[in-house]
Amino acid sequence: MDRDQLRLEVEKHEWFHTIDLGQGVTTPGRNDPRNQTLPRLGLPEDLSNKTVLDIGAWDGFFSFEAERRGARRVLATDSHAWWSRKPAFELARRALDSRVEDFDIDVMELSPDKIGTFDVVLFLGVLYHLRHPLLALEKVFSVTADHLILETVTDLTWTSYPAMRFYPGNELAGDESNWFGPNPAAVVGMLKAAGFTRTKIVSSRYRPLLHRIGRAILRRDMYKPFWPAIQNDRIVVHAWR
Ligand SMILES: C[S@@+](CC[C@H](N)C(=O)[O-])C[C@H]1O[C@@H](n2cnc3c(N)ncnc32)[C@H](O)[C@@H]1O
Repeated sequence: MDRDQLRLEVEKHEWFHTIDLGQGVTTPGRNDPRNQTLPRLGLPEDLSNKTVLDIGAWDGFFSFEAERRGARRVLATDSHAWWSRKPAFELARRALDSRVEDFDIDVMELSPDKIGTFDVVLFLGVLYHLRHPLLALEKVFSVTADHLILETVTDLTWTSYPAMRFYPGNELAGDESNWFGPNPAAVVGMLKAAGFTRTKIVSSRYRPLLHRIGRAILRRDMYKPFWPAIQNDRIVVHAWR
């Protein structure tokens, strides 16, 4: 595909990820992981000889990045977003001349029988979309041979008790597909309950100091209207079998 053809093809799709497809063409995604998620992920620079599973891959930015870092095999999986928007992923794969494999499967259906197990598993931006987060993490554990990298929204960050906020409606970002916002202690607790033996929180968007200040402020009733602004965060947790 030459550059003009590629431009025309890119314009035909709605994009979630900003992906550099080469030849000076970049997808106009509303989410640019190059500046947002990737720098705080702790994704190993060298993935050579590793097999990588990207759960909830959508347009595939992280799958292609894992391949770029030398992974010997990458499997991208998704369900909802691919019901109507998989052609964008497929176009990016073609443009990048990528060998990333794909499989349409819901998180709740993941099992070693269906997809095998992978050295590195990416589970990014998916946990809070699930109605049964602990059960989902058990499924994720079952396909992780070694190392899980999980990124998620967190909520109720002002309490150190493991807790999750339930979103029966569209409370989180006006999006009805969001169900639970766990706090960091709940994420770590669920990972352990699912079977992982070691966990490490590698990044949060806000400094812990901000949360300490937030907790102090929250003791005052007059600041209650500001709770939602203080209690959300996004964290990255690594976990090992
Ligand atoms: C916020 S996007 C995250 C995309 C990408 N992982 C990232 O971090 O940029 C959530 C993705 O999870 C997928 N997803 C949500 N629920 C799912 C489920 N039950 N099974 C499989 N994929 C799911 C959506 O289709 C979507 O692609």
